Amino acid sequence: MRLEPVTEDNYRAVIGLEVHEEQRAFVATNLKSIADAWIHRPKLQPLALFGGEELVGFTLLERDRPGVLHIVRFMIDRRAQGRGLGRKGLAAIADVARSEGRTELVLSVVPGNAVARGLYAAFGFTDTGEVDGGELVMRHVLAPSTRAPAHLAEQ
Ligand SMILES: CC(C)(COP(=O)(O)OP(=O)(O)OC[C@H]1O[C@@H](n2cnc3c(N)ncnc32)[C@H](O)[C@@H]1OP(=O)(O)O)[C@@H](O)C(=O)NCCC(=O)NCCS
Repeated sequence: MRLEPVTEDNYRAVIGLEVHEEQRAFVATNLKSIADAWIHRPKLQPLALFGGEELVGFTLLERDRPGVLHIVRFMIDRRAQGRGLGRKGLAAIADVARSEGRTELVLSVVPGNAVARGLYAAFGFTDTGEVDGGELVMRHVLAPSTRAPAHLAEQ
């Protein structure tokens, strides 16, 4: 899974990604998220999620507190869901956080979003007990990467 900037070349396709109808209450449209990112640039960073060559999802990241990466939006296109890409997307975001020396991921989720809550809990997120705008705030403290640095992995 690769995270790529939203650019002139891919933004129409990113806007064309969609969740299932019954999931629409769980996440803003990507069009709204790109607008949010424009208004709040450079604090908000919109990123396209690629599985190989295929555009499969979108995330909006915020760096508002030292040490913390805030996942403001996260979605996998309805046609690509259920293939483990949500989990891989979270892993790629965690790698970004680690590469910046951050130790914590934070997000919030609509209480009725059982699939997302299950995914986040399985990934290692726990409830903080805080509620933000009716959404449950979850956090994940990152263990240092166990992957060998690239220059060692090649040997
Ligand atoms: C939440 C979301 C990102 C998960 O993406 P995904 O690519 O389907 O996730 P994965 O394939 O990695 O599956 C994660 C887990 O959810 C389960 N799952 C996925 N879709 C499911 C469904 N429709 N019903 C029940 N379980 C489901 C998978 O079985 C998996 O559990 P497992 O690891 O125990 O097998 C995706 O459903 C989505 O975009 N939802 C709409 C937007 C949203 O809610 N975003 C989160 C806002 S906080």
